[in-house]
Amino acid sequence: MEYKNILVEKEGSLAVVTINREKALNALNADIISELFAAWSELEDDKEIRAVILTGAGEKAFVAGADINELNKLDSIGGLEFANRGQSLFWKIENSELVTIAAVNGFALGGGCELAMACDIRLAADTAKMGQPEVNLGIIPGYGGTQRLTRLVGEGTAKLLIFTGDMVDGSEALRIGLVDRVYPAADLIEEAKKLAGKILSKGPAAITSAKRCVNMASNSTLDSGLKFEVTEFGAICATEDSKEGTAAFLEKRKPDFGGK
Ligand code: CAA
Repeated sequence: MEYKNILVEKEGSLAVVTINREKALNALNADIISELFAAWSELEDDKEIRAVILTGAGEKAFVAGADINELNKLDSIGGLEFANRGQSLFWKIENSELVTIAAVNGFALGGGCELAMACDIRLAADTAKMGQPEVNLGIIPGYGGTQRLTRLVGEGTAKLLIFTGDMVDGSEALRIGLVDRVYPAADLIEEAKKLAGKILSKGPAAITSAKRCVNMASNSTLDSGLKFEVTEFGAICATEDSKEGTAAFLEKRKPDFGGK
């Protein structure tokens, strides 16, 4: 499919999706949300693709939030629909079988920070600026920020960031657990690709199962999460990859995973 506001590049089992609206700092408007929905479905249907790096065009921004021109026109029902649509997309990304790495190359504010948080892993440039500045606009986060930020950084730090609207730089984002690694801006995409390559070299079913299990940890009690892990463990032990991975260890050779 042809996209106007995003770029989708495929390199083997990896796709790089770039939000490409640099003049508005890659702010998410309705068209971009629709194109990301379509791109995700396309990538999920492409059996070759197993990992996605999500980033923003240019050097300044990952995504500077939802489009404030659209926000300005919303009434109550419009606001509900707006938040639901963005949340559905981010839920789809978070629960996709694709491994997602956010390469936060600049401003990741409001919906941009929320998009990064819906990804599995966040790598940031040292020049990144992240935050939930919605209160400056007289609104609250609507694409999951109150929930995912609290789970990532804890209630006190989430309230601090959301109540003040303050931005944090890459090193502070790393310190509070909002991102997982920080790199010089020039190295960010290469580092993201290296990380994706490492993950792609593992047993594919093991990675998707591990993703389901870790996601479950944020959505369930310990008891039901542990039961879920037992079920997933049973299923993974029946795969050919589990036989290959364990046999390769015992035979002192590299595994050759077939993805079955
Ligand atoms: N929506 C629409 N346009 C935006 C935008 C946004 N979120 N962020 C930036 N832009 C536009 C600016 O209007 C400007 O356009 P023009 O050139 O046509 O005037 C262009 O991008 C460049 O921006 P600035 O001139 O403001 O650049 P700057 O370097 O001076 O400032 C910034 C950068 C601090 C990121 C500033 O642009 C800013 O504060 N942006 C808004 C950030 C924000 O509040 N995001 C949250 C949105 S609400 C939300 O996301 C709710 C939710 O949970 C879903």
